Amino acid sequence: MGIAIMCSGGDAPGMNPAIKRFVDYVYMKNEKPYFIYNGLEGLIDNNIKQAYHNDVSGILHRGGAIIGSSRSQRFYEKNYRKKAYENLLKNDIDSLIVLGGDGSFRAMDVFCKEYNIKFMGIPSTIDNDIAGNDYCLGVDTALNVIRDASDKIRDTASTFKRGFVIEVMGRECGYLCATSAVACGAELCLIPEVDLDLDLAKDILKKQINNGRNYVLCFVAEGVDKTDFMVDWISENLGLETRKSILGYIQRGGNPTVFERLMAFEFIVKAVDKLIAGLDTNKVIVYKDGQFSELSIDFIANSKYIINQHILNMLNFIG
Ligand code: F6P
Repeated sequence: MGIAIMCSGGDAPGMNPAIKRFVDYVYMKNEKPYFIYNGLEGLIDNNIKQAYHNDVSGILHRGGAIIGSSRSQRFYEKNYRKKAYENLLKNDIDSLIVLGGDGSFRAMDVFCKEYNIKFMGIPSTIDNDIAGNDYCLGVDTALNVIRDASDKIRDTASTFKRGFVIEVMGRECGYLCATSAVACGAELCLIPEVDLDLDLAKDILKKQINNGRNYVLCFVAEGVDKTDFMVDWISENLGLETRKSILGYIQRGGNPTVFERLMAFEFIVKAVDKLIAGLDTNKVIVYKDGQFSELSIDFIANSKYIINQHILNMLNFIG
């Protein structure tokens, strides 16, 4: 029986190194690797092929996912999930690795409860919002893209003495925004998890401006939906001409960092080993407090990610 890999949901840098390691490692273990192209849509449409070493040569440094990905509406319907399962049987596949985020894992939870498959998940989303897990593939690269963009925006902010509002992705999760705000030295940061006291921020920044500060960087998580509000707030309350920069999809692209590649390798080896052993499957590999372990797909699908307090504490840099 074969082991298949599939990407689901938003692409994340780190998926390609994981796909490469998957093919190489599965052959090393004398098993047969398969690709499911275009995520759950491809699983429903039987877009499945055996993978070979030459499929994965020269992909390690590339962002995105060579096997494609999708967000599938059809997979919500029972008859399409039945089709998906039948396609796995048709291709002699009994084991499945999914690189995805919370939506993908909720779909896999339903699938695993309905059908007898061996499944292992690998957290892969720049949002970093998987419960019980500190690191998702894609995050380190995305943080570095944001750092690079913010450093460049700072050049104009400081030269023109402007306010800049930088909108960061992450859906309802503020991890990406908070971490990069700290790393990039932002003066203001708005994330869904924290109510920023704007009156206090105004007092502090006004004092700094009176003492010579002449530009301000404000990071806003897309989940708070306050980018335009903050542009107006800074110009009205701090008296600085203010612009916005919505970083958008550049955050999901680019060549994976060294850390990303190493993490991708580790996640894959652990997932493949579990599937080959055939015990203790239907789990997601997680990285927590510097250690790898597994959590059940049921737990992952039904729990909410809580941002680490340590990161929130670092946000108290205003004043
Ligand atoms: O989940 C990753 C992510 O990039 C989010 O940060 C963002 O809100 C969303 O995907 C965008 O989704 P789509 O690719 O469907 O536009």
